[in-house]
Amino acid sequence: MQNFTHCIPTTVYFGKGQVKAVSEELKKQAKKVLIVTGGGSVKKYGIFDDVIKQVKKAGIEYVELSGIKPNPRLKSVYRGIETCKKESVDFILAVGGGSVIDAAKTIAAGVKYNGDVWDFFIKDKGLFPADALPIGCVLTIAATGSEMNENAVITKEDTRRKLAFGSPLLRPVFSILDPEYTYTVNKYHTAAGVADIMAHVFEQYFSHTPAYAQDRMAEALLKTCIHYGPIVCEKPRDYVARANIMWASSLALNDLIGEGKEQDWASHGIEHELSAVYDISHGVGLAIIAPNWMRHVLSEKTIGKFLEYGINVWGIDKNKDKMAIANEAIDKSRKFFNSLGLPEKLSEVNISNERFQDMARNATKHYGKVGHFKELSEKDIVEILNMSL
Ligand code: NZQ
Ligand code: ZN
Repeated sequence: MQNFTHCIPTTVYFGKGQVKAVSEELKKQAKKVLIVTGGGSVKKYGIFDDVIKQVKKAGIEYVELSGIKPNPRLKSVYRGIETCKKESVDFILAVGGGSVIDAAKTIAAGVKYNGDVWDFFIKDKGLFPADALPIGCVLTIAATGSEMNENAVITKEDTRRKLAFGSPLLRPVFSILDPEYTYTVNKYHTAAGVADIMAHVFEQYFSHTPAYAQDRMAEALLKTCIHYGPIVCEKPRDYVARANIMWASSLALNDLIGEGKEQDWASHGIEHELSAVYDISHGVGLAIIAPNWMRHVLSEKTIGKFLEYGINVWGIDKNKDKMAIANEAIDKSRKFFNSLGLPEKLSEVNISNERFQDMARNATKHYGKVGHFKELSEKDIVEILNMSL
């Protein structure tokens, strides 16, 4: 295991009615809040009203930034930065999913930076925020783990680049996780969220660094998704299922299972190119790419991890031929995503091979190295994309 420093300072309020904690949290640290929301769901389903009640109870002033789109755009971040500066905002409250939270985080860093906040996303510049406004979250969809991690992913619309940056300053100081707030998420986005959670686990699990404790926890999260994923898709108001998926989403990407390990992140690198150019749902892109990435990287050198995955997660008979176990595990992953109603092929989301070469070039150019479990060349990426057509 590699050395690591583990610090997750986010206070999580988990469960029914936990929104009531918002007023006390705000009273501790805010005078004027920017409330960031998405395309309208939180207003339609009453979550926004619950939050406003708490903000008013705390006697805190607020301004709003609504209309953050899935795959959030840099322009909306600039709007938020401007509002914060003009209104002397000292705290940002994100009410929504990963897109809203990521926009809020980027605004938080941008307000305290004199240059263009996009600088932080360009790896070559080597810049990190020196300061940021504090942020809090009311999570409304289980998927990204952004509610408990330090990352943000933003799309620059003119160049169609979708990039990530991170800083410990961006970890939310508190997050409200009420599983009832996810009852209204439709089947498509619920399933995409489950695929995203599983993909986060894959990125950290498929590694050459031995880490027994992290890997058994990772397997537990995968099993949680396999058990409760179909239930949240079919019975959206099942509290126990929504609760398990919601907590799995936070645990899958809050550093817990990845500490001390070399991590992969190739499937995410490839998917971010797809959603940057074609604006598809992140989890949908991952459901298409991840099993093909698995098939591409499976070899005599990597088979050990696939055996653990097949035997421990899918319960495949350990006495079978090794390659057969690995391939069966990959088949089961694919079938599972299909069973949630997610697409299997890029053609199902209207993506052709037209831009594959550009996307592969962009991914390798930006990240320098795509993948660690197996390092991918441009040619490898194009091959995985072609397998996904
Ligand atoms: O926009 P609204 O109206 O809110 O509707 C949203 C959106 O259409 C809807 N939704 C959310 N909560 C709802 C609801 N609908 C009904 N009831 C509710 N309670 O769901 C749709 C998707 O929302 P979005 O926030 O885009 O989903 P998600 O949480 O999956 O976030 C995806 C974004 O996060 C990035 C992705 O790349 C993508 O841009 N990621 C962020 C990461 C991070 N910060 O750590 C890591 C991830 O790997 C990922 O890259
Ligand atoms: Zn993801």
